[in-house]
Amino acid sequence: MKYFIKTFGCQQNWADSERIARQLHRRAMRPAKELSDADYVVINTCMIRKSAENRAYGLVNNLSQVKQRRPLKIILTGCLVGLAYKDKSGRYLRRLRTILPAVDEFLPIEEVGFDWAPLRTDAVHAWVPISQGCNNFCTYCVVPFTRGREISRPFEQIVAECRQLIAAGYQKVTLLGQNVNSYGSDLVGQKTNQTNRTEALIRARHLKPVYVKHLGRLRIPTLFPFLLDEVARMGFAEVNFLSSNPCDFSDELIAVIARHPNIGRTIHLPLQSGDDRMLKKMNRWYTTKQYLRLVAKLKRQIPGLKLTTDIIVGFCGETEAQFNQTVSVCKTVGFAKAYVSMYSPRPATAAQRVMPDDIPHPVKKRRWQILEDLINQPQLKKRKKTSNQDGSAIISL
Ligand code: SAH
Ligand code: SF4
Ligand code: F3S
Repeated sequence: MKYFIKTFGCQQNWADSERIARQLHRRAMRPAKELSDADYVVINTCMIRKSAENRAYGLVNNLSQVKQRRPLKIILTGCLVGLAYKDKSGRYLRRLRTILPAVDEFLPIEEVGFDWAPLRTDAVHAWVPISQGCNNFCTYCVVPFTRGREISRPFEQIVAECRQLIAAGYQKVTLLGQNVNSYGSDLVGQKTNQTNRTEALIRARHLKPVYVKHLGRLRIPTLFPFLLDEVARMGFAEVNFLSSNPCDFSDELIAVIARHPNIGRTIHLPLQSGDDRMLKKMNRWYTTKQYLRLVAKLKRQIPGLKLTTDIIVGFCGETEAQFNQTVSVCKTVGFAKAYVSMYSPRPATAAQRVMPDDIPHPVKKRRWQILEDLINQPQLKKRKKTSNQDGSAIISL
């Protein structure tokens, strides 16, 4: 049998797909060069925005037509399925089965565990998942409902995987978590199911809640600075991590980054909005002043630092003045790149339940364009313009 894995969404999904590929190899399947050559298709879905969800439905619909002509197995996994299995009422799973009758199997993401070894195709750079899920419940975000609560992978398992990567000649590694810098907060609190090494580490360091100065308050203790330090000392040319939350960017973490020149100097620090009332509505836990204080500290202590970010425009009730606050914060920070999204209401989230999606699409689009032009346009200009078949100009990436 020949398989093809179609991956949508974030790096976590790409890392999961590498783990799924290994399992398929174990079942004597081999990769197909193209989707059209495969007789076993795994679709790893994302539902962060409605448009991402629609892409998965579109692909299943196309494949269901192929399935009428020849034998084909369609397996759906990823966040769509994650949400469906976590919904106790069974409504989402029933809905998926009804609207996607061509799907043969719905594979829960929990089955793609940390214990599954990945089958990597890149010989230089490796993704290493260090935690799953998220406890932050930003009001717009579906991830805590699709991936569940944050679960950290055992410390020594991560260290062992990174050591194997070094031995295999890998030069770059990216540590992955939805909230990567809160890694280990669940291990610190746990009394059981800990491996001895993690317990010893916690005892040795007398871990207490980390005081995050720019927030002026205590946050959960995390093991992330210690893990990053350990991985950086292994000898990789570059170590990166994704996605960090401003709330868990402690002084310890900044010190570890400053100490190791092989930790990437481009840090992704999602802002989401530059307006305090919006941030509060989003349940983001920081104010713009606190965010900017953190940025100033990072720039001071890490020379050559570049920052990238995520921003949502047109979140519920966002006024022109509030959007302009975001523009102003972006100008102050000088982001190297921004992933700008138009707000899309998502099932199960607090925003979808109680906050009207009241910003018209053209307004969202205009705000999106303003930030694109401000932050990302300078890079676009460098890209070559070519013509497509009907003669109109397209940008080739
Ligand atoms: N854990 C990361 C983000 C994961 S989701 C963090 O906290 O920053 C990736 C990005 O998608 C988010 O940062 C946000 O900008 C965007 N996003 C999430 N939910 C969205 C929604 N409902 N509508 C539009 N964009 C959304
Ligand atoms: Fe979503 Fe917020 Fe968690 Fe990021 S931190 S995954 S935006 S809930
Ligand atoms: Fe999408 Fe799930 Fe990632 S919703 S962004 S694939 S965690």
